[in-house]
Amino acid sequence: MTHSPIIPIDIDNWQPSPRTGANWQEMLEGGAVLYCPALRFGLEKGEERFLDASFSDARRKSIYIRADRPGLFGTEVAEPERRGLRAMLERFEAQSMGLLAGLFPGYSGLIRAAGTSYRPRPTGRPEAALSWRKDDTRLHVDAFPSNPTQGMRILRVFANIGTVPRVWRVGEPFEQMARHFLERIPEPRPLVAQLSHRLGITKRPRSAYDHYMLYLHDLAKADLGYQRDSSQLTFAFAPDSVWICFSDQVMHAAMSGQFMMEQTAHLPAAALAFPAQAPLAVLERLAGRPLL
Ligand code: SIN
Ligand code: FE
Repeated sequence: MTHSPIIPIDIDNWQPSPRTGANWQEMLEGGAVLYCPALRFGLEKGEERFLDASFSDARRKSIYIRADRPGLFGTEVAEPERRGLRAMLERFEAQSMGLLAGLFPGYSGLIRAAGTSYRPRPTGRPEAALSWRKDDTRLHVDAFPSNPTQGMRILRVFANIGTVPRVWRVGEPFEQMARHFLERIPEPRPLVAQLSHRLGITKRPRSAYDHYMLYLHDLAKADLGYQRDSSQLTFAFAPDSVWICFSDQVMHAAMSGQFMMEQTAHLPAAALAFPAQAPLAVLERLAGRPLL
């Protein structure tokens, strides 16, 4: 069976009514990238001025807001631009969460907005990354050292608001990737995880699941042979388009593009209709034991 990870969705508004016949949730949970080529995030009058890389701090890749604390981060700009950027991010958050509610009614009441970012810098320059670990031109699944999810899913909405395509590589299915790296992953160390949490290095204790996810992220990024030779396709997300995926499941790499909005939503594992496809279940199967 051929793996076709990019599934087009024919919608042009942010509040689609749930449709019969197409189970977007099943495709999403199966590891697809849902691509909406006719859906655009419209800028309001005056927001075009934000299409300028100099709005973000030189050392940061994004300007962002977070659901768990007030403020605008990643930029030093002054008012009234601060307010303007905030409004643009909040509008994207509202529209994205509405889109997710319309496409995935099964997640209703459980899905939560976690953060919203605007990425005004050209992507795809590996030399701009501080380290190979932060180099998003290498295929990876999202997993963050300081922010263990303990099985909570990372669902992301992306919108290209620039004038050039955003080009991604999309890699092999999660299970194939996990099988490739599994035996290189050392045993989790619960005492170290507890200590890291007590020292404030992680926001909550790093579970065995988070340990595996972090190693998969790092091992894939560090392995240039895998980056070159693993099964993958290159896909250009057009200007004025939107795409959605579980970024903790879909192997992805950003190769070029500029000006993108991104919404992160968190979803408890219990909300999944097809939990056996989720990274947690795949890893538990491969490891032969529970990881939470
Ligand atoms: C990433 O999430 O790894 C990067 C996505 C992008 O910048 O297009
Ligand atoms: Fe990523």
